[in-house]
Amino acid sequence: MMSDSGRAGKKILWLVWLGSALLAALALTYTLLNGEDRTLFMPGPLSPGHHQLAAACDACHTDPLGDGDVLQEACVACHGDDRKKPVDSHPLVKFNDPRNAERLAQIDATRCVTCHTEHRPEITATDGLTQPLDLCVHCHRDIAADRPSHAGMPFATCKDSGCHNYHNNRALYTDFLLKHQHAPELAEQPLLPARQFVTLLDEIMEYPHDRYPVVALAPEDADAPQPVDEEVKRDWLTTAHAAAGVNCSACHLAENAESETPLWTDHPGQQGCSQCHALEVERFGKGRHGMRLAAGLAPMTPEQALLPMQPQAAHRELTCNSCHPAHRFDTATAAVEACLDCHADDHSLAYKTSRHHELWQQELNGELPEGSGVSCAGCHMPRIDFDVSDWLSRIMVDHNQSANLSPNSKMIRSSCLHCHGLPFSLDALADRNLIDSNFKGRPQAQVRSIEMAGEDQRRALEETGGSP
Ligand code: HEC
Ligand code: HEC
Ligand code: HEC
Ligand code: HEC
Ligand code: HEC
Ligand code: HEC
Ligand code: HEC
Ligand code: HEC
Ligand code: HEC
Ligand code: HEC
Repeated sequence: MMSDSGRAGKKILWLVWLGSALLAALALTYTLLNGEDRTLFMPGPLSPGHHQLAAACDACHTDPLGDGDVLQEACVACHGDDRKKPVDSHPLVKFNDPRNAERLAQIDATRCVTCHTEHRPEITATDGLTQPLDLCVHCHRDIAADRPSHAGMPFATCKDSGCHNYHNNRALYTDFLLKHQHAPELAEQPLLPARQFVTLLDEIMEYPHDRYPVVALAPEDADAPQPVDEEVKRDWLTTAHAAAGVNCSACHLAENAESETPLWTDHPGQQGCSQCHALEVERFGKGRHGMRLAAGLAPMTPEQALLPMQPQAAHRELTCNSCHPAHRFDTATAAVEACLDCHADDHSLAYKTSRHHELWQQELNGELPEGSGVSCAGCHMPRIDFDVSDWLSRIMVDHNQSANLSPNSKMIRSSCLHCHGLPFSLDALADRNLIDSNFKGRPQAQVRSIEMAGEDQRRALEETGGSP
């Protein structure tokens, strides 16, 4: 039996342990919420996709004492829109079926952190994946029995380029492959769809039609409180805004703590733009250009980047004005030259020797119709058909340049297919050297997906005795 003093000793030790654990938890909570450099408290660096959030622990740890549900809510708050049907082929709802309980016991696919934990660079692969590459085996062990074309294939190759993605499989599912299997390399009319903002303006309820009716403005209409700089006036007058009735005050009046009415500011931020371009602002905040601003941090700068950047751009801030200078809103400069002021990786630098750039130059020179050229934006900021409200969709420029980047088959539907066939696009995007040279030359890779889909279809038809 233990003596009373022995028991008291144990109790004190227990209390001391409890006390220090509590203090540690409080210290962590305090630093998470208020600390200066909180990165010291990270168990390890963040994944490349999130490294910009290192000063915003609370973006994920919304409640430092909260459990896994709290983290899950944070992931879904930022990424939820992309994790639903039809964009995601393994959405959460897929796993509500009780028949999947056995699978979930192997790998809990209802939690993001099962496959994407943080602070663990030693196990973090491309796309922030922290599961071994053969993770599909847990749920698709019998694939070779269902599809003989898959016999003998190692599970680590399921998500090779051009085969399958866990989430966005929209350019890779069997019916899509079969539908596009005979598409020629080049479409009959290789063109990007036209932008639609100005043509749909009348239907956009949120637009401040009352204050800024869409009528062209003249030099004397400028409503700035002080005399107007000639250069500012010229830039403003020669670009789209003055022509569409967007006066100086539309951008320059900002909410102000000292006054009830908005006051003039010489340095308007993106709030000014958002009364008319809320979607562009929102999408910008979801990618690696705008994510720091969206998280309430100072803008991103090339100096903090993991990707190679031009040294002279180190201290430039990433805002709308990085690509659209204050009063010059020509989108051609924004689509190539602006990008190359910052980006300096091999792929970006190779662009100007590509066939796509040649086409872009011909478009700018008026030798080819609008939409024929392929700028950096043509691939990375595609013109997509976006549901802007419950009842209206429009072709708009996606300002989230991370959205279709990786896995790169996401680029097929939003970009390549406007001009190329599916077989050619799959091969081109599976060819790493071709990406590095920014698509100079023909693809050397050959993706077998379409062929395999065909084999499976023929076999299925034979078995059922049907005809194609
Ligand atoms: C992008 C989201 C994200 C950001 C930003 C983030 N973390 Fe984490 N953190 C996680 C995830 C995910 C885990 C692992 C949870 C798990 O596997 O259950 C984690 C785990 C931790 C843990 C281990 C204790 C625990 O709760 O499991 C600490 C400590 C921690 N983070 C501190 C920080 C600090 C300090 C910062 C800011 C400097 C930070 N984190 C920023 C996502 C994030
Ligand atoms: C404050 C918003 C925010 C939160 C919270 C957040 N993310 Fe992200 N995440 C982003 C942004 C922005 C990117 C970069 C753009 C992109 O790749 O889509 C990103 C990138 C990623 C990537 C791609 C990584 C890469 O290297 O390409 C994964 C995977 C991911 N997030 C998963 C998660 C998970 C899991 C959680 C919850 C633990 C989470 N995110 C929480 C905003 C967020
Ligand atoms: C069972 C594993 C698994 C789970 C669970 C999972 N992911 Fe993923 N995730 C992957 C894999 C594998 C990739 C690599 C790209 C692919 O195959 O689609 C990926 C890629 C991503 C990417 C970058 C590429 C893209 O298409 O956007 C993001 C962002 C992401 N996941 C977010 C999430 C979020 C948020 C959750 C929770 C709602 C989640 N993932 C749950 C396996 C998983
Ligand atoms: C947690 C279980 C689970 C994991 C892990 C998993 N899947 Fe699935 N997958 C399912 C379920 C459930 C279905 C629905 C069809 C079925 O019952 O087979 C499905 C369907 C599919 C389909 C056909 C549907 C479609 O929309 O294209 C493909 C392809 C697929 N998975 C590929 C993958 C790949 C590749 C991986 C690994 C990166 C993977 N899956 C990992 C559970 C899983
Ligand atoms: C579409 C939005 C927009 C419109 C319209 C606009 N501006 Fe600006 N203006 C900006 C932005 C953005 C900046 C740069 C802010 C910064 O650098 O911080 C700026 C900067 C300025 C500056 C200070 C910096 C400089 O370049 O000298 C002045 C002065 C100015 N604008 C005057 C005007 C006048 C006068 C008009 C009308 C003729 C006008 N602006 C119309 C967005 C606009
Ligand atoms: C009062 C509404 C309003 C505000 C505020 C506004 N814009 Fe615009 N913007 C428009 C309209 C209308 C058009 C369409 C003009 C056209 O295409 O003819 C436009 C077009 C554009 C274009 C495309 C130009 C082109 O040549 O196709 C860009 C880029 C742009 N705006 C950026 C911005 C930025 C950045 C801000 C904030 C600094 C801003 N706008 C503020 C109404 C506004
Ligand atoms: C990385 C460079 C870049 C940044 C940063 C950027 N834009 Fe753009 N923006 C472009 C390019 C390039 C186009 C034209 C693309 C095209 O014509 O296909 C464009 C087009 C637009 C258009 C016309 C869209 C349409 O569908 O007609 C608007 C409006 C616009 N930008 C607003 C903004 C606003 C607001 C911000 C800040 C939140 C911003 N941009 C930040 C590069 C950028
Ligand atoms: C002011 C500098 C600047 C300009 C201008 C700029 N970028 Fe970036 N870009 C960055 C920085 C910084 C990052 C983030 C890199 C990181 O987080 O490591 C980035 C990231 C990217 C990424 C990677 C996204 C991801 O999820 O991995 C792409 C693609 C990209 N930019 C394309 C473009 C294109 C296309 C343009 C022109 C339309 C452009 N950028 C203009 C600085 C710039
Ligand atoms: C024909 C389409 C196309 C064009 C044009 C294009 N890119 Fe890319 N870009 C891609 C693809 C595909 C990838 C690779 C995505 C992957 O597999 O991860 C990529 C990757 C990138 C990356 C990420 C690099 C990394 O290592 O993660 C950046 C930054 C980038 N491009 C910038 C640019 C810039 C700047 C231009 C113009 C000077 C440009 N791109 C032109 C298709 C294109
Ligand atoms: C706006 C139309 C358009 C878009 C979008 C587009 N391309 Fe192209 N691409 C062309 C045209 C036109 C050619 C030249 C064909 C020719 O000369 O026969 C070309 C040529 C190519 C070549 C051959 C280059 C050479 O030197 O022979 C490759 C590879 C290529 N594109 C890949 C892609 C990929 C991958 C995508 C999507 C990420 C894409 N393209 C998007 C129009 C486009």
